[in-house]
Parts: sequence; structure tokens; C-alpha cells
Amino acid sequence: MEKYKISGSHQLSGEIKVAGAKNSALKILAASILSNETCQITNIPKIEDIKRMTEILESLGAKITWHDSTLEINPSKITKSTPDSDLVKKLRSSIMLAGPLLAKFGEVTMSHPGGCIIGKRPVDLFMSGFKAMGAEILDHGESFTIKAKKLKGAKIVLPKISVTVTESLMMTACLAEGTTTIINAAMEPEIPALADYLNKCGAKITGAGTPQITITGVDKLSAGTYELIPDRIEAGSFVMLGLATNSKIKISNCNPAHLETVLTILKNSGADLEIGPDYIITKTSHLHGTDIQTHEYPGFPTDLQAPFTVLMTQTNGRSLIHETIFEGRLFYTDKLNTMGADIIMCDPHRVIVNGKTKLYGKKLESPDLRAGMALIIAGLCAQGETIIDNIYQIERGYEDIVSRLKNIGAQIEKINE
Ligand code: EPU
Repeated sequence: MEKYKISGSHQLSGEIKVAGAKNSALKILAASILSNETCQITNIPKIEDIKRMTEILESLGAKITWHDSTLEINPSKITKSTPDSDLVKKLRSSIMLAGPLLAKFGEVTMSHPGGCIIGKRPVDLFMSGFKAMGAEILDHGESFTIKAKKLKGAKIVLPKISVTVTESLMMTACLAEGTTTIINAAMEPEIPALADYLNKCGAKITGAGTPQITITGVDKLSAGTYELIPDRIEAGSFVMLGLATNSKIKISNCNPAHLETVLTILKNSGADLEIGPDYIITKTSHLHGTDIQTHEYPGFPTDLQAPFTVLMTQTNGRSLIHETIFEGRLFYTDKLNTMGADIIMCDPHRVIVNGKTKLYGKKLESPDLRAGMALIIAGLCAQGETIIDNIYQIERGYEDIVSRLKNIGAQIEKINE
């Protein structure tokens, strides 16, 4: 079993480049199905989730070619609209394929992607969106079939803001007859990025990045070249890493405009940050305990909650961390307590962090992607040796993380034990 071995308590220095955004790549790959032409997506991160998505696309008949960090997808030979259930179960984001397959073939059958450690992750809002566009849903328990002879544009009011539901309905509506309006849409930067890609292919989408998105259906989409936006969660995690280890590091190839709330909260907590057009430099800072509440974009992202919590263990004062989006996303704090942190769970959505505490190396298991990155940061702050198991969860979303962290002086290696 491969694990990470970390020797902590060392200052870091140098430059770390941010990769392309995982949560943009996965949706644009799914959207490639909508066309019959070959698309080229550049700045693709080489991560396990992307490998899983390309495996599913290939199993449906797409031809996938890699050239360094460019992925070429030729969807013209896709004839199946029933993705293999074993492949689907390996990747929750496979739900993103439902809409494009439905729009292209008028029918899709796939396994339910299931819940995960961070929460129940239901799919009810996807289904009610497809229904509003005229689809019929057949629930077979473990799997479902969605059918529609011709999808029709509709007014869809989302009772809850959801990133993947917004993206899914936006993609599906591109080939529907008439106009679709999504009200109470999510506004994460990956959504205007997906709209930009689709509009480049001939879609007619306006309002992406605002709470109301309008999509006028077209008969077909073309394809082209598209460069992925930088991963804002990776960039934010590296900022927390620099601050938590008291290091001067330059986080380059990022878009600080996608992290405005996070950077403002950090600055208000005492972080000394130099922010350029496409970089952020962390400097030695004296932070104080700060309360946060996760929120849909442009609020504080749930995906940065765990790295921020680790930072607060290295900060004087008390911080209340309120996770409002997912019901299971704070349980990793137990692991931080075994390392020496003083974190009290008030309820599944809220913890209080009493800082500053010394952390000590431990053997830990990564529970999920973002908590896994938080454990790496904790290990790099801790005295002694930390071993992190279940690193597949981390490699789902962070490209070549060991070499990139080593380049800025981190003592981390992959071991086989
Ligand atoms: N929800 C429903 N019904 C649905 C769909 C969602 O009730 O049909 C609920 C969820 O249970 C949750 C809330 O809506 O309570 C909001 O979740 P959302 O649907 O926005 O999350 P998501 O779209 O499944 C994406 C990212 C997550 C990120 C969240 C929030 C992707 C592939 N995933 O998930 O990223 O945490 O938005 O920003 O884009 C990650 O990268 O590690 C990750 C988990």
C-alpha cells in the first residue's frame, strides 16, 4: 500500500505552480459528448478523477489522446448511453454524464453514484431539472433511466444552490428545444468557464456566473480548443500551507480574483500576503483566531474549510468553523486532535478550534480529498513523522503532489509499506 511519509516542522520556500481546475475539467470532459467533433482541452491536471472520467468516456466509445497536459476527445464514435456501473461507482462526478447523454441520445441508464464520506449527496435536483425539461425518470433502485423524445426548454427554479446541478442542466439545455432559465443557479467560477467552452462550441448561454442563467437551445454543437482555468482550491490550499508553516512561498499560475473572500478573510486575520494578477506570495505572519462559515461562491468555499481549520490550529485564539454545505465534512478534526490540536465538535456542522497548539506526527488515514490535503498541511506543521494512508483520495485531485511539495522544500515522500 502506498503512503505518504512526512517529516514536519520545516520552513518552505520557492514557487509552486497551480494546476488546471479539476472541477472545471470534469464538466468540460462530460460536455464533450454533446458534439460530434474533436475537442482539445489544455492545462488538464493529471489526476485520478480525470483518469476515471476518461475511462468512462472511452468505454462509451470516445477516442481519447493525451499530449502532455492537453487532452483530445473525439466523441464521434460514442454510440452507447449506458455507462458501465463499476466505472460510474468509482467517480461521483460521473453523474455529470447523465445530462449530455440524455440530450444526445434521448435516453440514459446509469448507476446511482451514491453518497460519500462528506455527505449524502442526493441527485433529486438533477432529476427534477430533467423532468422539468420533459424527461421521464425510471428509478430501478441501484440505477435509473432518464428518457425524453425531445427535451424542451423550461423555467427551472433550484430550491437549493448546487454546483453540479446548475452545470448539468446548463449542458443539457444546450440541445433542448426553446429557452431554459435556471433561477437560483450556483455562481462558482467553473460555471462561467463551462458556459465559455459551450458558447465557443456554438451554444447560446447568458448569465453564467450570476444567479440566473438563460440557455437558448441549438440544433448541434461544434468543438474546439479550450484552456482550463486554474484550480482555485489548490491555490487556496497552498496559501494555507504557506501561512501554517510560516513560509514565504509563491503560488503562481493562479487567479486570485477567484479567491477574493478567502484572501480578505486571511488578511483580516493578520495574514501578510502579496497578491499579483496571477500569483500570491505568503509571508511570515501573525494570525489570530477567526470564525468562518462556508458558503456558496463567492463565499468561503467548503473545499477550503479543512485546510483553513489546520491553519487555525497554528494560530493564537479561538475560531468557530461552521460548515454549512455538507453534513459530514468535519470528522477529520478528530485526526487533528490525535496530533495535538484542541478542537471541540459542537455538532456535525460546527467545531471550535483553540489555537495555537503544537502538532505531533501520527499515522493517519485520509478520509477524503480535501481533508487529505489538510492532513498533509498538518503533517508539514507537526513535529516528527506523519504517515498518511489512503492516498488515492488525495491523488484524485492533486497532480504529482509529492514532487511539487518537495520542490518547495517539503520533506515528503511516497513509500510502500
Ligand atoms: N444537493 C441536493 N440534491 C441534489 C444535489 C445536491 O440536495 O440533487 C445538495 C448537496 O447534498 C449539498 C448541496 O446541495 O448539501 C450543495 O452541494 P452541491 O450540489 O453544490 O455540490 P456538488 O455539486 O455535488 C461540487 C464540487 C464539490 C464542492 C461542492 C460545493 C464538483 C465535481 N464537486 O459538488 O467539490 O465541494 O460543489 O462547492 O464540482 C471536491 O472537489 O472535493 C468537492 C467535493
